[in-house]
Amino acid sequence: MTGIEGKVVAITGASSGIGEATARLLAERGARVVLGARRVERLDDIALEIRGHGGEALTCRTDVARSVDLERLVGTAIDQFHRLDVLVSNAGISKIGPISDLDVDGWSSMIDVNLRGVLHGLAAALPIFRRQGHGHFVTTVSTAGLKIVPTMAVYAATKNAVRTLMEGLRQESTDGVVRTTSISPGFVDTQLDGSIDDVELRSRIRRDMTDFGIAPAAVARAIAFAIEQPDDVEIGDITIRPTVQG
Ligand SMILES: NC(=O)c1ccc[n+]([C@@H]2O[C@H](COP(=O)([O-])OP(=O)(O)OC[C@H]3O[C@@H](n4cnc5c(N)ncnc54)[C@H](OP(=O)(O)O)[C@@H]3O)[C@@H](O)[C@H]2O)c1
Repeated sequence: MTGIEGKVVAITGASSGIGEATARLLAERGARVVLGARRVERLDDIALEIRGHGGEALTCRTDVARSVDLERLVGTAIDQFHRLDVLVSNAGISKIGPISDLDVDGWSSMIDVNLRGVLHGLAAALPIFRRQGHGHFVTTVSTAGLKIVPTMAVYAATKNAVRTLMEGLRQESTDGVVRTTSISPGFVDTQLDGSIDDVELRSRIRRDMTDFGIAPAAVARAIAFAIEQPDDVEIGDITIRPTVQG
């Protein structure tokens, strides 16, 4: 399959930011989208707007930390649209802070959402991709894993674990059935700062996002580029950041 029109795409973290922008863009370009996140009322509003513009969109309350929720998200695509072409594992949180803060609970939450959440999606979708003979995993990782900076070590570690996972899956999928793509955004102006517990750090990140963060739609276009390639073309990694980001 080439292009986006007609593809069935499930997206986690679709209630705001990059996930929302991706859902809107892909639907505009003819994809049938299944939106997953915990704030289901936001998902329903977004899906309503997509349908209002002639698109096809469903919603499914999804906490990616729970494997059954990913099974339900993928199951919704199969039940309603009869297949799943792409899973965009985008849900993420950013409980950043110096390692010396020893925020063990924050570290665990990031592992649960940013890493375990992707593994849960993989476990739910991989058997379907194999059965169908095709499928595409797209993940939102981060430039935080490419340039390691103070306060972001554990967040970056979860993102680099996902990057490693995608490369491992790629190496195990050279029969042409499964494609993998890791998207690494830099600063994007989204609600991600809302998950930072440290008040000072949160306001600094908020300021940076407002001052020079790119729009979530820019990342959505990168995701669309990876998805629209013909089946025999795999876009492995895309880095997309503000031109002024150091
Ligand atoms: N913004 C940036 O500068 C930036 C840079 C690099 C990478 N990223 C990555 O981009 C991805 C999207 O983040 P964003 O920037 O668009 O921030 P955002 O606006 O805060 O979006 C995060 C999304 O993840 C969802 N989410 C959080 N915890 C979840 C859970 N347990 N189960 C299901 N969904 C959950 C949120 O929905 P609910 O709260 O409704 O569940 C929301 O839809 C994340 O993986 C983030 O790490 C962002």
